[in-house]
Amino acid sequence: MLSTVECYNAWSNTYDSDGNILQLLDDDAFNEIVQPYLNDNYQNSTIPICCELGCGTGRNTIKILNAGWSIIALDVSTSMITKAQQRVKQFQQQQQNSSISWMIHDLNSANELSIDDSSIDAIISTLVLEHIVSLNEFFKIIYRLLKKNNHSWAFITAMHPNMYQAGSQASFIDKTTGQKLCGVSFDHSIEDIIEIATKSNLILIKYMEKGIENEEHANKLGYRAKKWIGINIHASFLFKIKNNEIL
Ligand SMILES: C[S@@+](CC[C@H](N)C(=O)[O-])C[C@H]1O[C@@H](n2cnc3c(N)ncnc32)[C@H](O)[C@@H]1O
Repeated sequence: MLSTVECYNAWSNTYDSDGNILQLLDDDAFNEIVQPYLNDNYQNSTIPICCELGCGTGRNTIKILNAGWSIIALDVSTSMITKAQQRVKQFQQQQQNSSISWMIHDLNSANELSIDDSSIDAIISTLVLEHIVSLNEFFKIIYRLLKKNNHSWAFITAMHPNMYQAGSQASFIDKTTGQKLCGVSFDHSIEDIIEIATKSNLILIKYMEKGIENEEHANKLGYRAKKWIGINIHASFLFKIKNNEIL
């Protein structure tokens, strides 16, 4: 078992190309839930700002920049962030106006994240939750950062507990040894995620599960989808600030 940093530093070279079906379902969820919010908020006069917790190789970072938002992208793995920076550099050669800042930060550490309270319009954190030790601390950060208004939101996705219970967790094949390597993961239940977010003054606006619907769907997603036919393996949550917390 590797530490989270060791795991993602080693995985970064193949993360975008190893046929991870969760990323494909995650893209669908992002398009369905987040894209309308990204497009809508951009109608405001000031450029909205998103904070991405666990940006990885920048899969979503690019989508947020592309919608004209500014972004603070953070991750605990320098190798993953380096990949994201390369991706964004290519993107910025085509489009000039987007603003991005990067942070190396461990969301599990006691060190406070150096971003001002109530300064962020949206938080995105995709496929990171299984590495988070304390849901309490995680949702406290989200609540602290979000602007206390009706517009701010947080989009969180996770590997569904169905996968963890079937013995699966974030892992990859080391190309040099052929060995399967795993990082440290925690099995957070859907109920706990919702309950703890709610206790942190957030309200669930949308919940969606995605799975491998049938053989045809599995064929479309790739060979790794076959064993999950009929099972929901991805969960998405959209939260907003609770009404009584709005200033
Ligand atoms: C499965 S990847 C997801 C990356 C990206 N969000 C995506 O959807 O493609 C998980 C990411 O979370 C980061 N991560 C895991 N634990 C973290 C922590 N405690 N603090 C910050 N980032 C963390 C990892 O380094 C990795 O880049």
